[in-house]
Amino acid sequence: LIDLGHLPRLRRDKEDAMEERTSAGAADGARRATSSGLDGVVVAETRLSEVDGERGRLVVAGHEIESLAGRASFEDMCALLWTGALPDEAAREATRAAIARGREVAFARLGGLGDALDAADGMDALRAGLAHLAPSSGADAAAAVTGAAGVVAAAWHRRRAGLPAVAPDARASHAEDYLRMTLGAAPSRAAVGGLDAYLVTVADHGMNASTFTARVVASTGSDLVSAVVAGVCALKGPLHGGAPGPVLDMLDAVGEASRAAAWVDAELDAGRRIMGMGHRIYRVRDPRAFVLERALRGLGDASSSARLDLARAVEHAAEAALARRHPDRPLKANVEFYTAVLLEAVGLPRALFTPTFAASRVAGWCAHVAEQGRVGRLIRPASRYVGPEPPPPAS
Ligand code: COA
Repeated sequence: LIDLGHLPRLRRDKEDAMEERTSAGAADGARRATSSGLDGVVVAETRLSEVDGERGRLVVAGHEIESLAGRASFEDMCALLWTGALPDEAAREATRAAIARGREVAFARLGGLGDALDAADGMDALRAGLAHLAPSSGADAAAAVTGAAGVVAAAWHRRRAGLPAVAPDARASHAEDYLRMTLGAAPSRAAVGGLDAYLVTVADHGMNASTFTARVVASTGSDLVSAVVAGVCALKGPLHGGAPGPVLDMLDAVGEASRAAAWVDAELDAGRRIMGMGHRIYRVRDPRAFVLERALRGLGDASSSARLDLARAVEHAAEAALARRHPDRPLKANVEFYTAVLLEAVGLPRALFTPTFAASRVAGWCAHVAEQGRVGRLIRPASRYVGPEPPPPAS
């Protein structure tokens, strides 16, 4: 598990977190609220997705996530996010071809990335690799940067394994080609279906930290590539996209279901968080956990169902232990819990989990950047100064 003890204090005490203070400088005596984590603060109107944390519901552009994952392809999801409607046959093929072209262009440019692909962390490689793309905007730019993200992530993994990068196949779907470029062999239909369901499930999710980051950059009038690179930087953190690798470490450490409760208690006693549990918005189980679990069952092989059984046992133990320790704050499984199990089952190495998340979420970032562009207003919140006052002027 990730020990967050080295990070600066992550949150202020509950009494401090949402605090109202009279602004000394405000002539009208207006009260200014300080919200350290912006909980519940609405910063945009969006047509892209809605997260209902009380009911455990995710709607993407008018569609329940349950009706999309495992049914629509990642390309369909991109079209939905970028145009507002699921594509007809012609639009589906146009989106598939544009993303495939993005993969080809990115692959041709891999040689120019210098030592970016030698980065120890895949998100660092992705950040550097995407930063090499030419700044651009528009629908083709979204497809180009989405195609590129898959190529850079796969090429980073190959370099790290001492293997040559695999060229994209423009006839393949994005999910199939990503697996092929990563593993160096044709993936099974089941694995492609599992990855496609994952890519659809995590493509967009309200005003999460990386999406907000991308929108802030877009609001300054900066370009799409810069906004996407900023999104990658935000997604890297363990409180956002960095949890699935540690979830597998946890399953390995627990080993068997009968040890789950004792292991979870020991972690919590040591002051560590259980990765894959808890969410800023959801007060019930993350709906994406259900969808990913369904995709896992669809794989139907014995080793992934044994892993799934262990995951369920650890989830139950963690949920019970967290409920005892935080009776007022429901802490349930989030998307990353089953991301870990699903991505492992389709054959991806755990170091690629967060880059794979980015390779999907990039589609959402692109849609939000376009939406923010239409808003056309700089995002510029305020802060409350609590530093020392300057000395009075010498008389
Ligand atoms: N394990 C143990 N305790 C947890 C926890 C977890 N996974 N998630 C939250 N808590 C505890 C906190 O320590 C805090 O306790 P306190 O009030 O005694 O200080 C309380 O629950 C509230 O947590 P808070 O940090 O205010 O919640 P948040 O909304 O800021 O955080 C997450 C949400 C996702 C960052 C948090 O649940 C977490 O760190 N989860 C693990 C990382 C993870 O899975 N990230 C992927 C998110 S999709």
